Amino acid sequence: MLIVGGGIAAYKSLDLVRRLRERGARVRVVMTAAAQQFVTPLAFVSLTNEKVYDDLFSATDEQEMGHIQLSRDADLIVVAPATAHLLARAAHGLCDDLATTLLLATDKRTLYAPAMNLRMWLAPATQRNVATLKGDGALFVGPNSGEMACGEYGPGRMAEPLEIVAAIEAALQSDTRLSLPGAEQGALAGRHVVVTSGPTHEAIDPVRYIANRSSGKQGRAIAAAAAKAGARVTLVSGPVTLADPPGCDVVRIESAREMLDAVERALPADIFIGAAAVADWRVEAAAQKIKKEQGAAAPVFSLVENPDILARVAHAPNRPRLVVGFAAETSDVIAHAREKLARKGCDLIVANDVSEDSGVFGGDENEAHLVSRFGVESWPRLRKEVVAERLVARLAEILREKEAAK
Ligand code: PMT
Repeated sequence: MLIVGGGIAAYKSLDLVRRLRERGARVRVVMTAAAQQFVTPLAFVSLTNEKVYDDLFSATDEQEMGHIQLSRDADLIVVAPATAHLLARAAHGLCDDLATTLLLATDKRTLYAPAMNLRMWLAPATQRNVATLKGDGALFVGPNSGEMACGEYGPGRMAEPLEIVAAIEAALQSDTRLSLPGAEQGALAGRHVVVTSGPTHEAIDPVRYIANRSSGKQGRAIAAAAAKAGARVTLVSGPVTLADPPGCDVVRIESAREMLDAVERALPADIFIGAAAVADWRVEAAAQKIKKEQGAAAPVFSLVENPDILARVAHAPNRPRLVVGFAAETSDVIAHAREKLARKGCDLIVANDVSEDSGVFGGDENEAHLVSRFGVESWPRLRKEVVAERLVARLAEILREKEAAK
């Protein structure tokens, strides 16, 4: 069941319904009165092929399906967007419309995707309400940081539809009251998977840094897919604006050296996947902001090589059984990937073309080539979540084969 609150992010809930329907879910929508100021019930009727509910006192609805039954019929209740007002009413057990009555009457879990102005999100009252709901067992996804419809910048943007889908999948899998396959039965149950993701920021001085265009989408999708397959996942992430993937231990770092440190602390693991775009070089950072002096020459920086995290893990005494790297290339993709496979000592390289027109850096899709000493397996262009799921399934298979061969 999707409860849509009254915020501009309600337009994203239409896409959320589409994504859920693509995955075979049945979605029943409940709208608050305020939500209908932003999107129409008809839009949700068209996307769900179901009646949309909005009235607590509708004699027809009550006769067809009472509101208590409506609240119990779903496997999960998702509130997206969850406005400050809706969170406040839910936290205090108010039930002055159909949406809040369902939230109070349900015996299922509730997942909130908050969306509001950043000051409203950071307000002590909202934070108290969120803490109360979390204490009552509610789940949250987001909010993300970024530019808001009101022009301000900060936390308060609703999580993206696919992030909400991932949180829904994780919530359903971990709900032992539902007869869905539990994560422990997954292909990576009992395994520890360490994933690196996102860019690194290499400080030049206290205000400037060297970075790259990685968004962290591919690495996060892999972490989420591994968690979904039942693994204990440690995600070591560079600075990104995406929400943490559900069910993973997330360690946030800035620089390559911090990433190495976090990875070494996370080991031992069964599988290491280096999807991060780690800076190959750094500069020796200045302690104070480098000043622009009138008439002085521009500063010249000499680069120092960063440690190679992938190579270190592949040669560590506690080497994970499977060490997987990525190769971000703009030419001769397979040849460069083969060279990296040998030089870094890993079992598999996922090669991807990151030329500007491929849109892979920061985009939603990727075209992956799995390069190992056994050959190359090329996949078509797929959504990053699908690449992640396929990769996790292949790694589970390879791990099983390796263990059987021992
Ligand atoms: O984050 P997205 O926007 O979703 O984009 C995904 C991606 C393009 C970043 C991802 O798919 C990808 O290709 N990641 C690896 C990027 C990279 O740094 O590639 P590379 O060819 O420079 O490095 C090869 C491998 O060595 C990588 O596994 C990298 O993590 C690792 N490495 C590199 C340098 C270093 N100092 N330490 C490392 O561990």
